Amino acid sequence: MVAVCDLNEKAARAFASQHRVPQVYTSYTEMLEKAGIDLVDIGTPTFLHAPMALEAGRACKHLHCEKPFCRNVGEGLEVCLEVEGRGLKLLVGETYVFLASHLKARALIEAGQIGRPLQIRQRHGAWLERPQAQVYSGPAERNWRIDPAKSGGGAYPWIFDHAVHFFATAEYLIPGGRIAQVFSVPARKAQAPKQRGAAHDPYTTAELDIPLITWSYKDPACQGVWMRAERLSGKYDFMRGFSTCVVGEKGMIEVLGEGGGNLWWEGQQ
Ligand SMILES: NC(=O)c1ccc[n+]([C@@H]2O[C@H](COP(=O)([O-])OP(=O)(O)OC[C@H]3O[C@@H](n4cnc5c(N)ncnc54)[C@H](O)[C@@H]3O)[C@@H](O)[C@H]2O)c1
Repeated sequence: MVAVCDLNEKAARAFASQHRVPQVYTSYTEMLEKAGIDLVDIGTPTFLHAPMALEAGRACKHLHCEKPFCRNVGEGLEVCLEVEGRGLKLLVGETYVFLASHLKARALIEAGQIGRPLQIRQRHGAWLERPQAQVYSGPAERNWRIDPAKSGGGAYPWIFDHAVHFFATAEYLIPGGRIAQVFSVPARKAQAPKQRGAAHDPYTTAELDIPLITWSYKDPACQGVWMRAERLSGKYDFMRGFSTCVVGEKGMIEVLGEGGGNLWWEGQQ
């Protein structure tokens, strides 16, 4: 890594010093011009992905870009055309398909261990195992996450920001499977009193919560479902994080988070 850029110079300098990065910039344009780099890794808020990717493409830099890639198909296509036209490489940082546990599940599926995969069931609890709701406070500049114009996703910005992981996993673990249609059930009334999170936490009102998503694949034999229970939405899942179950013709695989570490029950792993 030869350069780091952030509008927050103090944060950029701290990162550079921790990771021994020789150059620090607060202007992205200046970094592209001066830093002598081959590849840019874009980890800024989502509304900046497309403009920054286009700028990098025009400067002939290969690209790694955080998920969600862009806010809509139009933005995404514009970036793809730019980089393809210049023969550049582009990778979207979809972390869930690089988790060791998902890689292992995919290898077992490809080896035919569960036969043809037909169903995928994904669940999502709280990120941290916590019997009581915890209220975080974060800096105001992180509020872009709850502004659909900045994070994408219309009325449900967190789904757009986050569910990309679950859809990527859903296609990854049914090799060759392509999602055809998506259905969702919005939460109208939580069963228990809702808790409030930080201002930038999009899980703060029942109206913005989707606890259940289902989808069909182009192959009509395959289906998927995703469910979520979270204290901030008035529900509590005693298992933290995510888990994924793939049902095949001959068997089934269950992934309990990365490294199996997500099977927690009342504080015990
Ligand atoms: N793959 C994952 O699991 C994962 C996890 C978290 C976030 N993300 C994605 O990463 C992206 C960033 O999320 P975050 O939570 O880190 O956001 P954040 O708001 O906490 O951090 C964004 C950083 O970008 C900097 N920045 C903003 N505008 C800039 C500019 N013009 N030039 C240079 N730096 C600028 C900010 O100063 C800040 O340091 C989002 O797209 C998010 O969806 C992915």
